[in-house]
Amino acid sequence: GPPFPVFTRKEVARHNSQASRVWVTYGSDVFDITDFVEAHPGGKSKILLAAGGALEPFWALYAMHKQEHVLEILRGYKVGELSPEEPPQPTPGDPYAEDPQRHPALRINTLKPFNAETPPELIAENYLTPNALFFKRNHFPVPVVDPATYRLQVQSSGGRTMSLSLQDLKRRFPKHEVTATLQCAGNRRAEMNAIKNTNRLGWGVGAISNARWGGALLRDVLAEAGYKPGDKGHVCFEGLDKDQSGTVYGASIPFKKAMSPDGDVLLAYEMNGEELPRDNGFPLRVIAPGIVGARNVKWLAQITVGPEESQSHWQQKDYKGFSPSVTWDNVDFSSAPAIQDMPVQSAITEPGPGACVCPGELTVKGYAWSGGGRRVIRVDVSLDGGKSWHMAKLTGKEQLPGRAWAWQLWQLDACVPEGTKEMDIVCKAVDASYNDQPNTVAPIWNILGVLNSAWHRVHVSVGE
Ligand code: HEM
Ligand code: MTE
Repeated sequence: GPPFPVFTRKEVARHNSQASRVWVTYGSDVFDITDFVEAHPGGKSKILLAAGGALEPFWALYAMHKQEHVLEILRGYKVGELSPEEPPQPTPGDPYAEDPQRHPALRINTLKPFNAETPPELIAENYLTPNALFFKRNHFPVPVVDPATYRLQVQSSGGRTMSLSLQDLKRRFPKHEVTATLQCAGNRRAEMNAIKNTNRLGWGVGAISNARWGGALLRDVLAEAGYKPGDKGHVCFEGLDKDQSGTVYGASIPFKKAMSPDGDVLLAYEMNGEELPRDNGFPLRVIAPGIVGARNVKWLAQITVGPEESQSHWQQKDYKGFSPSVTWDNVDFSSAPAIQDMPVQSAITEPGPGACVCPGELTVKGYAWSGGGRRVIRVDVSLDGGKSWHMAKLTGKEQLPGRAWAWQLWQLDACVPEGTKEMDIVCKAVDASYNDQPNTVAPIWNILGVLNSAWHRVHVSVGE
């Protein structure tokens, strides 16, 4: 095609708002991204930070942009090139330089920020997921925290601030232990992306893990701060992790859940008997059992109580469920409640999709879990795409009614008849309220790619 027009950085800088159109540079290319601003999965306010300038300093922090599917979107908006006289953008330092070492078996989705799932082959091997294999879902670099000087700030009911050291939390409050499963709202998003790409992290079945957590009960700490069980509102949490504009990760849960004697919400400093790994929130995180992963704030810095939910991006503009009819052009974020309890879920972890199994004995394995403390009472497995069903054998520790925070692993020992060429293995779970899973993904597809709880299907071939 014809050569692109050439611009100076000064000319690009004039296009720094939607009114004057939004231009950015990447390398020596110039892009007019005005038409993408509203559809940006990370939010309009974030993408506008780069308006009129270079993407590099921002994408150093949000390095998951440096993937082919993102660069392809960008290329579609190219309008010009920078004048060869323009000096190149200095390469920024790596904000992720202090991130911890990770286990090589983790299935990495994005490296910076670090997002990785438990390898599916290992999920059903451990009722308690080993810390190193527990899925990790970070939005920013992992904060570096000195446990000796760390303080948790809790706003008391009188308005004063209570400052607690790690020692205070361990000594002044009894240690409470809970086995609880954490699941990201985006678990199994890859199946949604296959129907229509949401352009967000393509999680498989491994954005879910289970651990024994130890810590102070949030309700004990709130009581110490002067709150009463009958008080109302929301408990808001902020983490220590933030971006260069100072935006910190935040989320909230209903006060009722926080204060309920049956809620079991922890300020956890222990995971499977060890201190929390840095990726999972060292030295202190919220564990809100039964509630979507996003509210389980890691690297906890601050707790406040008020009439409003957290005003953070992740409470207001993400982790909400929408109708398949809602698009980026007509989405009204205030119309949907923030996800709290999660729906009933199950997935097949063995065999994996596309595996070749042998005729004869076959073991199918997986997990099943429901939100809100609802126990899974049954898992049905089909080997013929849902025509006929078998009941799987469930394993898991005894849990209190309404407080079944942990998943159950399941197994089906089946027989693959001679002559079978391929099989469609399907699973579905039923919880204590007799909620079950939708058959297919399409009717629950949504722009954020969250809450995929459809029947899980694995296609395998049968060989010798
Ligand atoms: C997410 C595109 C600029 C912050 C995303 C995603 C895409 C995208 C496709 C989803 C990625 C995935 O989940 O795989 C773009 C394009 C940009 C741009 C084409 C420029 C033309 C920016 C800038 C910032 C930013 C300048 C920050 C200042 C974010 C954030 C997310 C995101 C915070 C969400 C990450 C999460 O949910 O974990 N962007 N982006 N983006 N972007 Fe951008
Ligand atoms: N807390 C902070 N401070 N920062 C984060 O990025 N991610 C949230 C939640 N808490 C996050 C956070 C999300 S979306 C999930 S699913 C869980 O942490 C993941 O917890 P994990 O990394 O221990 O598996």
